[in-house]
Amino acid sequence: MAAIYFPQFRRGRQGLPLRKGETILDHARRAGVEIYSECGGKGECGRCVVRVERGTEALSPPTDAERKFGLGEDLRLACQAVVVGEGDIYVYISEFGKYSILTETRRREVPLEPLVRREGDRVLYDGRPIDSYRGGIYGLAVDVGTTTLVLEIVDLETGETVGTAARKNPQVSYGNDVISRIEYTMVDKYGLRYLGPEERMERVKELQRAVVGAVNEEVRKIEGKISHLIYEVVAVGNSTMRNLFFGIDVSSLGLIPYEPLRKEPFTVPARELGLELNPNAVAYAPPLIGGHAGADALADVLMVDMHKSEDVVMVIDIGTNGEVAIGNRKKILTASCAAGGAYEGATVRCGLGAVEGAISNIRIEDGRAVFSTIGDKPPKGICGSGLIDLLAELLRNGIMDERAKIKAPFEVTDGIKLYQEDIYQLITAKAGLKTDQELLMKYYGVGLEEVKRVYLSGAFGNYIDVRNAVEIGLLPPVPEKIVKIGNGALEGAREMLISRTRRREAEGLLDLITHTKPNELEEEFAYLVAENMYFGRRRRDVCPGRP
Ligand code: FES
Repeated sequence: MAAIYFPQFRRGRQGLPLRKGETILDHARRAGVEIYSECGGKGECGRCVVRVERGTEALSPPTDAERKFGLGEDLRLACQAVVVGEGDIYVYISEFGKYSILTETRRREVPLEPLVRREGDRVLYDGRPIDSYRGGIYGLAVDVGTTTLVLEIVDLETGETVGTAARKNPQVSYGNDVISRIEYTMVDKYGLRYLGPEERMERVKELQRAVVGAVNEEVRKIEGKISHLIYEVVAVGNSTMRNLFFGIDVSSLGLIPYEPLRKEPFTVPARELGLELNPNAVAYAPPLIGGHAGADALADVLMVDMHKSEDVVMVIDIGTNGEVAIGNRKKILTASCAAGGAYEGATVRCGLGAVEGAISNIRIEDGRAVFSTIGDKPPKGICGSGLIDLLAELLRNGIMDERAKIKAPFEVTDGIKLYQEDIYQLITAKAGLKTDQELLMKYYGVGLEEVKRVYLSGAFGNYIDVRNAVEIGLLPPVPEKIVKIGNGALEGAREMLISRTRRREAEGLLDLITHTKPNELEEEFAYLVAENMYFGRRRRDVCPGRP
């Protein structure tokens, strides 16, 4: 029987039976192979380019949408190429590589008091026997990012980390941001019909299977074959990501007032989610803050102990969804904005995740780019930290003006260019985050001088050159106060996994946190974002820092 192969991926190597009438993207989704799909498969973004090495004759001819992108020989848009004939098809994805894992997360001493523990020859969960002791007790912390999935396996008897993994979230094949994933569960392919509850839940389960399948695969790869000894999972993510992981309808997040259907903490048997761990393992969903601010933002707040701080501190999490929190032990405010994945390589033509071969830092010398790549591999694209460097360097060297305009695409190296549209994506993302920072300070009634520390969190936060991030306005102009904490969301999840006290504290945080939606509160929100897109002095000070 004819099949489609994705030879770069283990799960795509054995071949998937061809389904006539379906696109390459549909097949990739079923195989759990990640292909960026910014427009959700409408032929508009050009991000789903693949190389078809064999089997072109079994595919429909190029569409108008594909011709518009002027693709080279053998290249197709995965969302446009439909299987119409017989014969094996071999497909290669351009963005492929091993993710560089952020291991330098700030660690704090947290008492080891997990809910799962050993008592004699039994394993107990919260005092209840769930298994006989088989030589080890492990737990899994997962940060389900919109673009990146990061895992950490912890020995719950010693507190030691025994394995970490990071990879692209396979749901990127369904759209780059949370809005397109929500939309996928709500409307049909052509955007013409709302799906009924049953169809909607089928789509939710499809997205859930994609991400859970990826977790299973990564856990299987961890040395020592210990998946059957993993008894608990703590999964954090923004509201959409957490709820999709747990198979919960996310449509309410796409409709006014944009609140999650479920935001309370809960536990379910892990096998009900499709997780291949110990048969009696439990999965814990930490609470969501509200709106799009989820358990990841909560984990960040927990990790920096904002709720115990006398001083006012701020935490900024740069991801596909940007989150900002400000506060101290008396009161905490949060806001969330759709950064759109530009800094995770999703919406920028030459953008890449933090994979081998990604350009991670750049300087401009005599008008030419000097750079280094992750793993010293040949350059394939630019990841978030490199994009921040590049914007700052273009500005410093006068190649880009304060209105973010460049005269011509800037060539970093052969085939890797930054275009005006890419810059637009990057400045839009930074403007949303900057506006949230300013407005949260205003609502809190403090100026930057009263904020004692600014914690920078995120899957690639540690790689950022703070000076450059400040230069482009992504971070506030107080570099001396900025502390990189690595992946704060993952660390918060780990703390909730190994310590029941920290888990209780996390659940108690909701009493202290008020989630704000600046875009609804501020009449001039769109104007503020537009102002913050550009560099240099503002025309007027719209956020004086105090209400
Ligand atoms: S062009 Fe956007 S997913 Fe194919």
